[in-house]
Formats: sequence, structure tokens, C-alpha cells
Amino acid sequence: MLVEGIQKVLVVGAGLMGHGIGQVFAQAGYAVVLNDLDDERLGRAVEGIRRNLDLFVREGLLTATEAEATLARITTEVDLPRAARDADLVVEATFEDLEGKRAVLGRLGMLCPAHTILTSNTSGLSVNAMAPATNRPDRFVVTHFWNPPHLIPLVEVVRGENTAETTIARVVAVLRSIDKAPVVVQKDVLGFVGNRLQYALFREALGLIQNGVCTAEDIDTVVKMSFGRRLTTAGPLETADLNGTDLFFNISRYLFPDLDNSTEPHPFFRQLIAEGRIGVKAGRGFRDWPGDRAERIRERRDRELIRWLKQDREQKEAP
Ligand SMILES: NC(=O)c1ccc[n+]([C@@H]2O[C@H](COP(=O)([O-])OP(=O)(O)OC[C@H]3O[C@@H](n4cnc5c(N)ncnc54)[C@H](O)[C@@H]3O)[C@@H](O)[C@H]2O)c1
Repeated sequence: MLVEGIQKVLVVGAGLMGHGIGQVFAQAGYAVVLNDLDDERLGRAVEGIRRNLDLFVREGLLTATEAEATLARITTEVDLPRAARDADLVVEATFEDLEGKRAVLGRLGMLCPAHTILTSNTSGLSVNAMAPATNRPDRFVVTHFWNPPHLIPLVEVVRGENTAETTIARVVAVLRSIDKAPVVVQKDVLGFVGNRLQYALFREALGLIQNGVCTAEDIDTVVKMSFGRRLTTAGPLETADLNGTDLFFNISRYLFPDLDNSTEPHPFFRQLIAEGRIGVKAGRGFRDWPGDRAERIRERRDRELIRWLKQDREQKEAP
């Protein structure tokens, strides 16, 4: 069910994240306007949405009629004043650059009606650093969707020091209405909750490689073949409860002092970047990426994520 008073959602920046975010709002029944720097980018965004919807139809997550109706709810508009003038909710998903975001949010603050809620999809920039640019800090929050946004349920809603309680409540209600799983982050911390957890794991992985304990391939195998599988059903604290907090406490006592606590990227990681091993786009990163290996992993990942979406839906529909 749509949230009252929210009819039109404007997504500013229709790139990797923006097009998927627009899609999920349109799928739920909201009118969506995608805005970007030119029509070519907007054309690519709509093509991306069409591909995602085709996949959903093939997988039985949507009927062909629902997919068509979703597309019909999406329009594109390069002209920001025209796109913003009757938006009820805006998701800013432009480049991850504080000054750029402040400029876009400043324009939106001037162009949108007084009631419009502004949100930013930043990956980890400070909500309090962006809020003053909006001219409505009480109606501004971060909504951090995860990639790919049409397949991952979580959205972190990050409260700024001046965000009104009613804004949080409305944004949470809207996110629930588009079938997302919102979690309110109560303080303005860098990286929010999810990326802090991810990067704690990443830092330890780098430390293990740096110290010659195992290879990058070993790290991926260990995670995928063990707690990575469990984490999709039992979170880290549920796991601690299942196994016994007393056991976790005893292990923490000897392990915490030994865990990596580097405050700078490890020398081995610096070297990797200096050698241009920047990942799939260079064919080499921590691992080598010959042929279509990356594409096969992405496809497998998306199939798994779709399986989860179907399971979530079955659970919701169960009596
Ligand atoms: N890629 C991820 O995995 C991921 C995950 C979560 C959050 N984010 C965040 O989402 C935001 C967007 O990231 P992305 O990966 O989609 O980037 P992207 O480069 O794919 O897309 C950004 C889009 O914004 C457009 N844009 C830039 N300035 C604009 C302006 N002034 N007006 C209108 N459009 C403008 C660009 O043309 C581009 O299409 C960033 O803040 C990023 O940190 C990214």
C-alpha cells in the first residue's frame, strides 16, 4: 500500500544505483521521475530497468502486465526544475562527492515544494555535513540502498542531528511500502552499520594476507564455505546466542587483542593499487579475472538473491 501524501518520487542520478532505486518505487506503484545529466544516460537507465523487469518476469516475480505497468509509471526528465516541482520524495543518487551532493541538494531544497522529503543514497558520507545545504534539515535523511537495489532488501536510514521524528517515520513507512527492510541508524557514523561491519572483515582479511597466513583465494573460500552461508539465516549476534555467549566471550578474550587493528591500508594493498590491479575492470585485483568469470559470478549472485526474494515473499504470504 502506498504511503498517503507520497505520489511522486524523484531520483536524481540514474546510474548503477539510481535506476534500480527508481525501479523498486515504480514496482510498488509510485510515479517515478528519473533525472540525470543527459538523455543518453537516462535512456541507459530505462534500458537497465527493462532488463531487470524482464528477469523478474522470467523468474515469476512479476507478471508481464505488472512489468509493463511498472515501466509506464517511470518518466525521465533532464530539466531539474521541471522534475522537482511536484516531487513528494527525492532520492539523490549522484556521484559520491560531498561538494557535488551539497550542490544538488541545495538546488533541490530551492526547487521542491515545502513538504518534500529529501534523501541521499550516499555510501557513507556524513548526514550532518549534507543537511545544512538542503534548507530543510528536518526533512532530510540518508537512505542507503545496497547494490543491486532491486535485489537487496536492506536500506539504512541515517538520522541527522536535526532530522524530525516524523520524517524518519514517513521514510521508514515508504521503504516498507516498497518491500524494503529499513534499519534506522541512530547516529551519524561514517560507513553506517553495514559498511562498518564489511570493512572490519575486509581489514582482517588484508591483515591475514599481509602476514602470509593464507591467500586471497583462501579468504574467499573460507567465507563462502562457512559463516558466509550461515549469515543469510542467522546474523552474527544470533549466531553468538545459538553457540553460547559464554563461548564467544572466552574466545573474544584471547582473540580480540590479536585481531588486526591497522589504521592505514596495509602495504600489500597499497602495492596492489600501485600495480594497477584495481579489480575486474583491469582483469586483475586480489584475484585474476580471465574471460567471463566476473559475469558468471554476478549471474550466480543475482540468481541466489532472487531465490532469497522469492523465499521472503513466500514467508510474507504464508498464513
Ligand atoms: N555502487 C554501489 O555499490 C553503491 C552502493 C550503495 C550506495 N552507493 C552510492 O550511490 C550513489 C550513486 O552511485 P552509483 O554507483 O549509482 O554511481 P554512478 O556513477 O553509476 O551513477 C551516478 C549518476 O549520477 C549522475 N549525476 C552526477 N551528477 C549529477 C547531477 N548533478 N544531476 C543529475 N545527475 C547527476 C551521473 O551522470 C550518473 O548517471 C553514490 O553516492 C554512491 O556512493 C553506491
